[in-house]
Amino acid sequence: MAGRIPEQFIADLLARVDIVELVEGYMPLRKAGKDFQGLCPFHGEKTPSFTVSRDKQFFHCFGCGAHGSAIGFLMKHRNLEFVEAVEELAGVAGMEVPREARGSQRASGSRDLFTILEHARAFFEAQLRQSSEKQVAIDYLKKRGLSGEIAKAFRLGYAPSGWRNLLDTLTAAGISEEQAERAGLAIKRERGGYYDRFRERVMFPIHDSRGRVIGFGGRVIENGEPKYLNSPETEVFHKGRELYGLHEALAAKRKLDSLLVVEGYMDVVALHQFGLPNVVATLGTAVTREHLELLFRQVPEVVFCFDGDAAGKRAAWRALENALPLVEGNRAVRFAFLPDGHDPDSAVREFGPEGFLKAARQFGLADYLLDTLKLEVDLTSGDGRARLIERAKPYLTQIPSQSHRAGAVRTLANLSKFDEDLIRRELGLAANRGFAPRRAPVLNRFTSRSLEEQALAMLLQKPALAAQIDAGLVDFCRQELRDGLTLLEVGTAIQAQPPVSTAALLERWRDDPMEEQLAALAALDLGIPDSAFESQFAGALARLRAKAEEQRFARIKAIPFEQWSEEQRDIVRNYKRAK
Ligand code: GTP
Ligand code: MN
Repeated sequence: MAGRIPEQFIADLLARVDIVELVEGYMPLRKAGKDFQGLCPFHGEKTPSFTVSRDKQFFHCFGCGAHGSAIGFLMKHRNLEFVEAVEELAGVAGMEVPREARGSQRASGSRDLFTILEHARAFFEAQLRQSSEKQVAIDYLKKRGLSGEIAKAFRLGYAPSGWRNLLDTLTAAGISEEQAERAGLAIKRERGGYYDRFRERVMFPIHDSRGRVIGFGGRVIENGEPKYLNSPETEVFHKGRELYGLHEALAAKRKLDSLLVVEGYMDVVALHQFGLPNVVATLGTAVTREHLELLFRQVPEVVFCFDGDAAGKRAAWRALENALPLVEGNRAVRFAFLPDGHDPDSAVREFGPEGFLKAARQFGLADYLLDTLKLEVDLTSGDGRARLIERAKPYLTQIPSQSHRAGAVRTLANLSKFDEDLIRRELGLAANRGFAPRRAPVLNRFTSRSLEEQALAMLLQKPALAAQIDAGLVDFCRQELRDGLTLLEVGTAIQAQPPVSTAALLERWRDDPMEEQLAALAALDLGIPDSAFESQFAGALARLRAKAEEQRFARIKAIPFEQWSEEQRDIVRNYKRAK
């Protein structure tokens, strides 16, 4: 098995290829200012919002949010895994992909993790038949109404009580405790040693769409906290990108035209048992853009089914925000809210497979959007009706397709009693058939960003600015400030190893929770000339230092005066003098 690709090679590779040339091999680009633009290949659109920057070696779509380096472009466009894309790109650049020697802990690659996770799944599944405690688990599953067949189909299992059941099994099979931890199955004690993460829980293995086990959700039997314990993020498990049940849904039926998204593992399993296999659940997280892209790659219609409570509504709104930029062509998004006190599991048991969605209140995307927004204004006053249009604007302008927007504009006209053409003009959309020029969505505007984000955006776009950050400032801010740290973290990463481009820098955060935020900042149009970056960045650092000083002053002031040290007295004196 091949070892890991060294990080230095990724940097060298990205220095060798030019993203503009690479992208032009797949689609036409036009020069626009210092960047290049084209129609986004990742979502349907009629006016270009896909931008490729030669300086940053980075692409970004303001319509659907797709972004990345040359490697990212190949992964997305050709549906390649990371390693495949690197190999392909290396071929183009005439470079040989080196591999780190195997044997070192980190070098064993993700394929080993899949093997370990598969081992764990088999262990948990066997415990449901062999453990001396099995009856508790079996009784619980029966009480929840699950059949033996469905438990088997979903490979449900049981993690017995005790601290080393799985660990002992894994180590006996030659798997180290460190590896078990990397797979998310064991937890390291502070004092040394490891113990099983999952204990006394019914285990739901989570598969990727290819059917490989990537993690687990474990439900406590009866009551206890937390109710569900999930695998942590690992090299192969990314909650924002995977859906529980997708593999099973794809396996159950060749051709799906719609997928139902629910909140719980139990919901997925119960609906399957009642003959509804086209259902998936998020992994205890909000619905992300990546989830939606994954869904729309499989089916044109996505139906979100949430509980009718406040949490369900919040979750629905998040889903709506992420879905707006993706609706076009024959795609559709619907929302279904179940009656109070029901979740899909209980609803399908009460109303049956045909009746359970009928029992829900259903909305189309635009209806749900406007129904929610209209609650915030007073529709009986002209002012309130005008405000509805103002409130709807940032949402409607994100919908890429005119036909999908049309219905919403009509509804908005009905609610506000304003003329449709006038609304289109208000929204900055051309009246009737014409196409409006697309601007970056409001959220991408520079000025709404915090001080730190503005400085971070500059740093990501011009990594050389890191030279301005001195070690003293880093230490000082770490001590005094909670925020400002991402900026400094990125700054020190640049200093440790100067990147060849913005894209090469961002590669270091691939699969990291910060990736999205960093990429969005890297793509921001800062609206200041390049020549002003240095001084603006210096200004931002000065303000950060001032903020830290203010914080330090406040901290000292909180201590009784008599207890101040000599140094603290100096600090206060200097601070006051400077003011
Ligand atoms: P049951 O009570 O077994 O029917 O579960 P449910 O799926 O109806 O539970 P609920 O609606 O409370 O939760 C929905 C999903 O949120 C679960 O499937 C989990 O993915 C996640 N979740 C629920 N409780 C917890 C928790 O305590 N911790 C974590 N990390 N996730 C949870
Ligand atoms: Mn439930």
